[in-house]
Amino acid sequence: MKYFLDSAKIDEIREAYDTFGIDGITTNPNHIMNSGKPFYTVISELAGFVKEKGIEGSDVFPISVEINPHLDTADEMVEMARKISAMSSNFVIKIPCTEAGIAAARRLEKENIRTNLTLVFSPSQALIAAKNKSLFVSPFIGWKENSGEDCVQYISDIVEIYRNYGFYGKTEIICAAVRNGKQIVDCAVAGADIVTAGLQVFKDSFYHPFTDYGLERFCSAWDKTITD
Ligand code: E4P
Repeated sequence: MKYFLDSAKIDEIREAYDTFGIDGITTNPNHIMNSGKPFYTVISELAGFVKEKGIEGSDVFPISVEINPHLDTADEMVEMARKISAMSSNFVIKIPCTEAGIAAARRLEKENIRTNLTLVFSPSQALIAAKNKSLFVSPFIGWKENSGEDCVQYISDIVEIYRNYGFYGKTEIICAAVRNGKQIVDCAVAGADIVTAGLQVFKDSFYHPFTDYGLERFCSAWDKTITD
């Protein structure tokens, strides 16, 4: 399963890439706002990062960039998507799963501009993303679980539907708004292609108190052993 970092902060992206390794990035208007920089400055930095690392191309290291959420016609969405896409071959255009968004994504995929249908909360929304050949679909986990919905079944259903119709692996399933290691494991068991999460979520998922406990025990044994 691939790990994407959900962030627009270049220092976090560098840290994740250089330490445990990530396979791509997702951003959204919140992350761009939290970076404290203007939209086009942030995405130029991201374009520069992939050049510097020699990981150019959306097939190598995809970066999802969301269009202006105020746009409400497919024409406006397509226009902005074309502008963003021209800035880097790594950019995948993140579009909300509305009627206009679905129409825009369908047109963009026909132009070879790769898309990520986002704000997906049901298997039927995920199905239309695959039928229209989006590169990614982003079902949100954390938001649904916060309101008491079962996400294990939700993701398993999307995986099963994709397998039934040959979409599996063509439109990749990015489990989004992932909040903890348990959800990462749930997504992996269900067969999702990707999880996207914040830096601390990944770091927490690598931690286990027994690892620290075991290390303490082994340090103590080491100290009581002659090592020459
Ligand atoms: C995913 O692609 C989204 O950027 C993200 O997960 C949105 O949710 P959050 O900001 O609540 O984590």
